[in-house]
Amino acid sequence: MKLIENATAEKLRGGFYTPEPIAEFILRWGINGSTDFDILEPSCGDGVFLEQLRDLKAKYNSITAIEFDEVEAKKADKIELENKQVINDDFHTYCNNTEKRFDLVVGNPPYIRFQFFDRNQQAEAGDIFIRAGLKYSKLTNAWVSFVVGSSLLLKDNGGKIGSFYQQRFCRFPLLCNCENSLHIFTIKSISFLLKS
Ligand SMILES: C[S@@+](CC[C@H](N)C(=O)[O-])C[C@H]1O[C@@H](n2cnc3c(N)ncnc32)[C@H](O)[C@@H]1O
Repeated sequence: MKLIENATAEKLRGGFYTPEPIAEFILRWGINGSTDFDILEPSCGDGVFLEQLRDLKAKYNSITAIEFDEVEAKKADKIELENKQVINDDFHTYCNNTEKRFDLVVGNPPYIRFQFFDRNQQAEAGDIFIRAGLKYSKLTNAWVSFVVGSSLLLKDNGGKIGSFYQQRFCRFPLLCNCENSLHIFTIKSISFLLKS
């Protein structure tokens, strides 16, 4: 059994960042010519998706970025971008309290064992699963509550989730058969991107 005191700080916060070309690809795929999207990045780290959005010069309505780590949130907040809000908070807490809804969610969720969440995070993640009518266990990883929470924040008329997942951390055994390649699959209105 992995003990919290043996895990590195990076591992505890799931701090493995997305390469720039992949962030750019996900944004291009997600925005796809629209000009009025409300966009969410649930765990923005130092802001690679914000930087790529700026460099793409795409039009959008708003970009909201959440980051639990104060230092990383400050770095993301320094990126100059119109209609941007960086919130230094736990995504689960934000998800359970916001009334804002989004057209597009982009990112790369943290891969953290449920046992490494503090009590408050465990309770908030539990509420997300209850709201979604799903069950979870102590083996459930944080990326699952991020995907489920993100789906709850999509607008009623649909929306897209484009996420970078590292396969050493997660498996979608029922949904795809993917080894070492980029996959896009769609369930109703939600599309997922996977890259090992
Ligand atoms: C895998 S990194 C990805 C960062 C960025 N999205 C990217 O694509 O490069 C995950 C990020 O989630 C942040 N994080 C961890 N737990 C969080 C939480 N409960 N709420 C919001 N952010 C969290 C970590 O600090 C880290 O920056």
